[in-house]
Amino acid sequence: MPTPIAGLSAWVRGLLIVLAVLLLAAAGFGLHRVFGPGGTATAPAGPAGPRTADRIVPAPLAATAGPGPGYRLSERTAVRVEGAGEQVAEVRRIAERLADELRRPTGYPFEVTDGGPGDGIRLVLDPALPAETGAEGYRLTADAEGVRITALTPAGLHLGTRTLRQLLPPQIESRVPVTAGPPWSVAAVSVEDRPRYAYRGAMLDVARHFFTVAEVEGFIDRLALYKINYLHLHLTDDQGWRIEIPGRPALTAVGGGSEVGGTPGGFYTAADYREIVRYAQERYLTVVPEIDLPGHSNAVLAAYPELDCTGSARPWPYTGIEVGFSTLCPAGEAVFAFTGEVIAEIARLTPGPYLHIGGDEVRAVAPEAYRDFVRRVGAQVLAAGKTPVGWNQTAPAAGPGGVGLLQYWDGKGRDQDVRDAIGRGAKVIMSPAGRTYLDMKYEASYPLGLRWAGTIDVRSAYSWDPDTLIDLPAGSVLGVEAPLWTETLDTPERLDLMLLPRLPALAELGWSPKAGHDWTGFRQRLAEQGARWTAAGFGYEKRSEIPWPAP
Ligand code: ACM
Repeated sequence: MPTPIAGLSAWVRGLLIVLAVLLLAAAGFGLHRVFGPGGTATAPAGPAGPRTADRIVPAPLAATAGPGPGYRLSERTAVRVEGAGEQVAEVRRIAERLADELRRPTGYPFEVTDGGPGDGIRLVLDPALPAETGAEGYRLTADAEGVRITALTPAGLHLGTRTLRQLLPPQIESRVPVTAGPPWSVAAVSVEDRPRYAYRGAMLDVARHFFTVAEVEGFIDRLALYKINYLHLHLTDDQGWRIEIPGRPALTAVGGGSEVGGTPGGFYTAADYREIVRYAQERYLTVVPEIDLPGHSNAVLAAYPELDCTGSARPWPYTGIEVGFSTLCPAGEAVFAFTGEVIAEIARLTPGPYLHIGGDEVRAVAPEAYRDFVRRVGAQVLAAGKTPVGWNQTAPAAGPGGVGLLQYWDGKGRDQDVRDAIGRGAKVIMSPAGRTYLDMKYEASYPLGLRWAGTIDVRSAYSWDPDTLIDLPAGSVLGVEAPLWTETLDTPERLDLMLLPRLPALAELGWSPKAGHDWTGFRQRLAEQGARWTAAGFGYEKRSEIPWPAP
């Protein structure tokens, strides 16, 4: 018969064994669990540790933490390009860009080479991947042998490299050498990923305040982090005209010289615009230029008074922020000659498929005249080889031979018009002002931005579904776009404060599967992005909704 003491120790031994089994099971589960978006099964790595797959923004379709220590970048790490055919040259360019990005913080050489044995980062075009991988999907695996990214297209490989950067410590975003840097390690992982929507956009209003080419390129850098693939540029408005058009020199001589508040403004030459397009393209973003017609046209009318129905010159400069007071004369042939010239030139400079013709907030034109105008201008865009995009007011003119893509921002009882347009073949980009307008204040007391569509905190930007926000037929939503209007935003630093941290919320709505949508997990993942922005030199608003780590 055991003594009481021996009995107690047997009980304690038993308890320890049960605890040990539970701990081992938990550890195994943590190593092999498939992470849904927002999963938090692994213990957080320290600020300098590798980033596991459950930290990626936007959340991937699926990610599995692998066994083992993962891959550590070193002086010997090569970037290896594999694949055949004419796209390999493009993959090489992706490899060179990745190598360049990794060289700056690490100081390692990252030789770019064709295939070959050995460890490293492999970029592989693999036509045997399942077709559902699509034009932007990719797979990424990391283990002790290296990192392997496979895709059907160069775009997929590029997007895989964006995920790879998020799997490295935040200091990898640094543009300058990181002295005494962390171990540059990628946790062992297997990621399978592709986007929910084909169109994931952001808009910059360069008309209310002008931003230089370098500043727009900085904006593109922020978008590219989150797999945004369209940059919509709002190039014209009452306060300014920002792009050179041959044969219409007054547009920029007059309309390029002012902005909200009366500061000098500016405009892009054709070469400037091509440079923005090139920079965006290199990062797999397509530029969507907007010429806002027939309203928001005070700058045009100041330059060419004959395009106003009254023929009288407009007060210029206009430095306020009212809307809806200006329109091109919707009937004059001189007006269609003008729109035709502008559209032909913008189409010539723009490789992407879309040209946005605005169409919002036209208060001084009868509905029938408005519809005829938009149809005719839409036909000019089609004749120039592009698909016309319009704000949702253009819905009555949408359909075959006219606007093909509607940007939904302001329902105001017009949802049925949008449904009717979808019935005629149009598609929709969701930009509901009360959720996606990045110029709305976070809260009423916030010093920057406006409030006419309400206030938008990060949770509100994140907590809606593009497919069901309004009642639309299945499959009619092409994607999501976050516009940044600049009436109150005159510096890149102020753009950053409005963009970050809300842009990643909208990017995740555009990219990640609906099934994993989860605010609790998202705010944790978002919190870790702050250190990446700091390393990159980007400002952001430290909203208290997000559990930022202590500095
Ligand atoms: C808009 O916000 N006027 C499209």
